[in-house]
Amino acid sequence: MSTFPTAIVILAAGKGTRMKSARPKVLHEVGGLPMLGHVLAASRETGAERIVTVLAPGMEDTADYAQANGASDIALQREQKGTGDAAKAAEEALSGFEGAALIVFGDTPLVTAGTLTRMRDACADGTDVVVLGFHADDPASYGRLVLGADGLEKIVEAKDASREELAIELCNGGAMAVRTPLLFELLDALSPENAQGEYYLTDIVLLARTRGLKTDVIECPEDEILGINSRADLAVAEAIFQDRMRDAAMMDGATLLDPMTVYFSHDTRLGQDVIVGQNVVFGPGVSVASGAEIKAFSHLEGVRVGEGAQIGPFARLRPGTEVGRKAKIGNFVETKKAAIEDGAKVSHLSYIGDARVGTEANIGAGTITCNYDGYDKFFTDIGAGAFVGSNSSLVAPVKIGDGAYVGSGSVVTKDVEGDALAVARGRQFEKKGWAVSFRASKEKTKKS
Ligand code: UD1
Ligand code: MG
Repeated sequence: MSTFPTAIVILAAGKGTRMKSARPKVLHEVGGLPMLGHVLAASRETGAERIVTVLAPGMEDTADYAQANGASDIALQREQKGTGDAAKAAEEALSGFEGAALIVFGDTPLVTAGTLTRMRDACADGTDVVVLGFHADDPASYGRLVLGADGLEKIVEAKDASREELAIELCNGGAMAVRTPLLFELLDALSPENAQGEYYLTDIVLLARTRGLKTDVIECPEDEILGINSRADLAVAEAIFQDRMRDAAMMDGATLLDPMTVYFSHDTRLGQDVIVGQNVVFGPGVSVASGAEIKAFSHLEGVRVGEGAQIGPFARLRPGTEVGRKAKIGNFVETKKAAIEDGAKVSHLSYIGDARVGTEANIGAGTITCNYDGYDKFFTDIGAGAFVGSNSSLVAPVKIGDGAYVGSGSVVTKDVEGDALAVARGRQFEKKGWAVSFRASKEKTKKS
């Protein structure tokens, strides 16, 4: 990583009215992480020493989020007068800073640290203004990059462009890397004489060229600069993000039996030789150790799965579940805040919540931990090697000792000692020939 001093300025003061949402635009999520979180993560990855987030007054939730996720400063843009004005709002936070300032947009969540780093490095190598460009299939409303004999001459916004300029396919991705304090000198020279009456950040390119400074374009794939303005854009970004996660999981040595049906969160971690079946959803906070298998139609969130464990099909693992090495969770099993220790088995139709299932313990089909009385949650502790017979209810707080047996169909309300047998159900009795006399009496009444 270059040691050239780097600051990032994230512009996020826009209202985002087209999202039609009570939530600020940049807090809408892609892969379970707010868009702003993606931009902050890429920013942190560049090794930037300063990260300034530009917000409008009243965006306290967004400010709190930014500061909790690596923003060093919040700068306020009082009125939305354009991207140039927004960038200028960072001047105070960056006073005295000398190096490269990268200006990125908070609503462009797919930009990568790699691209930002390339821009910064170009700046470090002596380019004064570096613009992120891309070739657009449909350049529509993007700013156009006008190249001359000496490279990038200016950026023209679509609304201000001539016919010839509109035909240019090399577009402005929005991000820039500019030597600082030069950035703020150029911003001071902006004027809002254009179709939108705004201070355009893009105008600093022409200003730089007029002063004989060096400008350049760094290109990236169109995917990276996708800006989110609506729920439909958000869905497109989600799809691109999911594809990236699938590719990364496979590159790292996991098998996805039908990749398009596996959904990841931004922080999903799969070890080598993990096999993931069809239609599996990973919510936030899941890690799966090597050699484990997650079978079809399973849903996991806030879970650690140990090496060689088997999950599903049709398992629902909720936050706080820890599955040990070679443990097994079978179909229609729900777990929550549960430690399923090494080699333990919960194979069919169970709810295990606020519980420990000890090493090599076996939980029979239909076993339920009754952990809640409508007010509080209580713990069930099942010892190592214990065997709980099918269709048992374990009424917490309760402890089943190591190696104990619980007879099928028991409702266990008291602790069971280690290696003991507990049976807590109605005793079976039998009346010989009862059914014959019962039927005979019924037939008699039918005839009369
Ligand atoms: C901008 C570029 C355009 C480029 C496009 C790429 C300018 C003038 N135009 O246009 O060349 O092709 O991005 O997506 O830069 N913002 C503020 N305060 C403001 C205005 C904007 O914080 O006063 C923030 C917005 O919240 C947003 C970002 O800046 O995150 C970009 O603003 P937006 O209005 O979307 O710019 P575009 O018109 O898309
Ligand atoms: Mg935009």
